[in-house]
Amino acid sequence: MTCKILVTSALPYANGAIHLGHLVEYIQTDIWTRFQKMRGNECWYVCADDTHGTPIMLRAEKEGITPEALIARVHAEHARDFAGFHVAFDNYHTTHSDETRHYSEDIYAKLQAAGLIEVRSIEQYYDPVKAMFLPDRFIKGECPKCGTKDQYGDACESCGAAYAPTELKNPYSAVSGAQPVLKSSDHYFFKLSDPRCQEFLRRATREVCKAQPEAINKLQEWLGEPGENKLTDWDISRDAPYFGFEIPGAPGKFFYVWLDAPIGYMGSFKNFCAKKGLDFDEFWGKDSKAELYHFIGKDILYFHALFWPAELEHAGYRIPTGVFAHGFLTVDGAKMSKSRGTFITAESYLTQGLNPEWLRYYFAAKLNGTMEDIDLNLDDFTQRVNSDLVGKYINIASRAAGFIAKRFDGKLVAGHLAETFRKELPGLAEAAEEIAGHYEGRDTARALRRVMALADQINQYVDKNQPWVLAKQEGQEARLHEVCSLLINAFRLLTIYLKPVLPKLAQRAEEFLNVAPLHWADAGHLLPPTQLINGYEHLMQRIDPKQIEALIAANRESLEPTAAPAAQVAVSPAPTIDPHSPQRHAQHQQATEDKAQGQAMPAAQHISIDDFAKVDLRIARIADAQHVEGADKLIRLTLDLGAGGTRNVFAGIKSAYDPALLVGRLTVMVANLAPRKMKFGMSEGMVLAASDADGKSPGLFLLSPDSGAQPGMKVK
Ligand code: MSP
Ligand code: ZN
Repeated sequence: MTCKILVTSALPYANGAIHLGHLVEYIQTDIWTRFQKMRGNECWYVCADDTHGTPIMLRAEKEGITPEALIARVHAEHARDFAGFHVAFDNYHTTHSDETRHYSEDIYAKLQAAGLIEVRSIEQYYDPVKAMFLPDRFIKGECPKCGTKDQYGDACESCGAAYAPTELKNPYSAVSGAQPVLKSSDHYFFKLSDPRCQEFLRRATREVCKAQPEAINKLQEWLGEPGENKLTDWDISRDAPYFGFEIPGAPGKFFYVWLDAPIGYMGSFKNFCAKKGLDFDEFWGKDSKAELYHFIGKDILYFHALFWPAELEHAGYRIPTGVFAHGFLTVDGAKMSKSRGTFITAESYLTQGLNPEWLRYYFAAKLNGTMEDIDLNLDDFTQRVNSDLVGKYINIASRAAGFIAKRFDGKLVAGHLAETFRKELPGLAEAAEEIAGHYEGRDTARALRRVMALADQINQYVDKNQPWVLAKQEGQEARLHEVCSLLINAFRLLTIYLKPVLPKLAQRAEEFLNVAPLHWADAGHLLPPTQLINGYEHLMQRIDPKQIEALIAANRESLEPTAAPAAQVAVSPAPTIDPHSPQRHAQHQQATEDKAQGQAMPAAQHISIDDFAKVDLRIARIADAQHVEGADKLIRLTLDLGAGGTRNVFAGIKSAYDPALLVGRLTVMVANLAPRKMKFGMSEGMVLAASDADGKSPGLFLLSPDSGAQPGMKVK
């Protein structure tokens, strides 16, 4: 029986690049949906960018563009990165859409009608200079416990203490630097403490999380013992200025980003239904018989296991069939870190020329359906891909294909092979259902272990039958033909078993085998007699450890500024974590990058070309130039790097240039210099200018490229 299945991955924030941590989620969801499709189910995979909220609003402002322009650019970048890793969404939409607005208003109105929305006045920190309320992440000050300076409003990075922003000593706004003041305002709350919600959540969410005992334990902790009322009401409004949807009937109040984010799942699917002619209600209606699954990281379980089902239930929609939470990615046993070069973006992985299927294979070999963190051990990565994927699986095809081509005109034997196959390679075809069970249960690690055990068995068969020896013996022609035909069939079966993980490779294998796209049921039969196969071209390269070194080097942000004049740039990415998450502490720990500086390089007469290659020099267009109040030497530059976005740089060139005359011209910048916090803000790079050695004689000369150079071009 085929099922209707709707699958989602969490919606990535629209203010940052996709990195390998994200890919743990999108790759595993993609593997699962590809598997369901191969099984013949009607399975749809939808996602979208999560576009609302303060960080996105401020980031756009900093770049000098509208939030709409920012999210449009990032949408294209995200779509490009996902496609690069063969993550095949059926629809990739945005939460800043009519559909998402429609369902947000609809759900809100229904919750209101059910008496589950309440308005209360609350007091919060307000930035009097920016005229806006400040999310916790945008308030900094001294830790109330240990006194460390410049800590965020939710937790201390030095001692780990969690606290409220009002507990910080000497608080200041991270947006303007101003001292925040307490101010009250009306907020809209979803009454999660209402007995109806409590009762519903106790009953339903265990079911939703049933696949994962660790998640059930978390729920138990959040819900408390029966009779206990531990859930607090959820603040779903934010005051203007805010980038989001204004709440109907509440001018100046906006839906908090986490209210409309999961509704974006519905919005994306609705958008898809219109394109495909599907019935939305068949998937989301109260009586839907379809299955609905959300793949998420463990940091956002609270939203998906509590708020989201409670909203859906009381607004008259179906609730998810299952929520599958996964752990966080570490690289070589540690949190991803920019200074170590292990904060690796999807884009850099691809532009360094690494094969996306290597990573898909490695993640799949590690993922087991639990909430445990998963580690990308770089040596193990190289070793497993080379020895298992290439050494064991690909090798089978290359060992048999040559003989079939050269000796038998590319044709397999004329007789039926089913019986011989069962006898000589027992268990191979019979493993199909067991392996399917592992995919179904999201234990891809186990599925791949089983496949690799089969690959070992096949390789032993090759060693035992030695086709290269048969090829030289007289009278063994028929046996050689049979052995090689069996091997091609064995390779085809493994290709079916690996196809959810390696879709591109499977496609090339299908071309080689000269067959239509393989489905799971195809494991039930062999290739037809006299099947004509195509010439074999090597299907996958091994990883050269040098490629990994280059990848790390390309992502390392550790170069100390040398004797270059003036300008500095520091990227201060708007935080991509949510300041109001109930688990903000844990989230904060995960999302905070390692700010450690790399070791200073010893002074040397010569540097190697590799050393030079570490400096990412780019053509930049000066989009804006401003005097910096209170600074004698500095000009604040907004640099446009084309597809690379914009950067804020403080350049010490005031003595030589009038800001107004700089706007529009091209120059050269160091784009991968570690961000630096300066008195006037973050500097995110450095522009290049010439001056004499001691810098005393007058004259400072900004570099310019010849005409024709475009913003973002690499200088080398
Ligand atoms: N926008 C929210 C989700 C809204 S869903 C209605 C968000 N975005 S995110 O960009 O921060 O993360 C997107 C997904 O990637 C989340 O499920 C998150 O857990 C996952 N990951 C982000 N970094 C990760 C790792 N380092 N490791 C594993 N998964 C990670 O949260
Ligand atoms: Zn502290």
